Amino acid sequence: MRVLVTGGAGYIGSHTVLSLLSAGHDVVVADSYANSKPSVVGRLEDLSGRAVPAHAIDLTDAAATDRLFATEQLDAVIHFAALKAVGESVVKPLEYYRNNLDSTFSLAAAMQNHGVTRFVFSSSATVYGEKAPVPYREEYEHLSATSPYGQSKVMIERVLADVAQVTDGWKVALLRYFNPVGAHESGQLGEDPQGVPNNLMPYLAQVAVGRRDHLTVFGDDYPTADGTCERDYIHVMDLAEGHVAALEHLDVMSEPVRPFNLGTGSGTSVLELLRSFERAVGRELPYVVGPRRAGDLPAFWADATRARKELGWAATRTLDEMCADTWRWQSQNPQGFPDA
Ligand code: UFG
Repeated sequence: MRVLVTGGAGYIGSHTVLSLLSAGHDVVVADSYANSKPSVVGRLEDLSGRAVPAHAIDLTDAAATDRLFATEQLDAVIHFAALKAVGESVVKPLEYYRNNLDSTFSLAAAMQNHGVTRFVFSSSATVYGEKAPVPYREEYEHLSATSPYGQSKVMIERVLADVAQVTDGWKVALLRYFNPVGAHESGQLGEDPQGVPNNLMPYLAQVAVGRRDHLTVFGDDYPTADGTCERDYIHVMDLAEGHVAALEHLDVMSEPVRPFNLGTGSGTSVLELLRSFERAVGRELPYVVGPRRAGDLPAFWADATRARKELGWAATRTLDEMCADTWRWQSQNPQGFPDA
């Protein structure tokens, strides 16, 4: 298939581009480079040995999005492009709702206009909200999220479901990611957050490489085994392969729209992840315990049964591999991707 990957220069998007190419698909990247660098595309070409056509485009521009569909012959869309910082979304809700919703509206309209029917959407475990029982299961219906970022994912899932019900041939997979970490095993591709990292793994990687003094563990008085929060960390290459599996499943999918959890099915605490990262680096890393971060849930992980049964996909890479690959990427690229 010839697949449009929006946000294809971003963290999960870029790894998915590589997995798509290895599986024999053709890829067209669309990225605004608002939170990624154009140099990522060159890395993708080097690693794959293939040309990767890339369009610098803001998908909230519906006319430009439609023109893209007019110039490229597309069979499917995988939609990653979005604003994604949970804390920032609380401060700038309008920007988050507008960007994340408008870009999806533009894509859906262009797909309808040009007869493209296959859509894979980058959703998040955050749609389960505070009240869902753990492990999270796709059958849970009372979706809600505490942040505008998370709520934009809930809203987009609903929009896509409504459109799929009435548009002939539409097939939409909603992929609910747990906590993506790790990097491509080459060390040439990884997560490159702009500014201070919000998330645990990139923060820890920057501590290890000397860009930050120490990690602050946000609370050690949670009702968990060691008192720190537990999450379902999943290697980004497993996640990337999950997208390929979902894409290839669409034509036989039982319903027009279907959610799938992409996680490992088990939880890891902040301190367990720290210890694993220390093994990867080969030394102890400085940390202090601070207060809880507002909005953090104590512990959640995926029930990963549906993806295994229906997509024939399961995560295989271990926590130690996630940390070793992150460290290879960060130590070889201490400042992330080059600007040009
Ligand atoms: N943490 C620290 N110190 C840090 C950063 C994080 O102790 O410097 C802790 C957090 O308190 C949490 C755990 O590490 O317990 C994981 O935090 P992350 O920020 O890495 O991940 P979250 O689970 O908070 O966020 C993820 C995704 C979001 C998504 C959210 C849904 O990154 O996109 O899950 O809950 F919205």
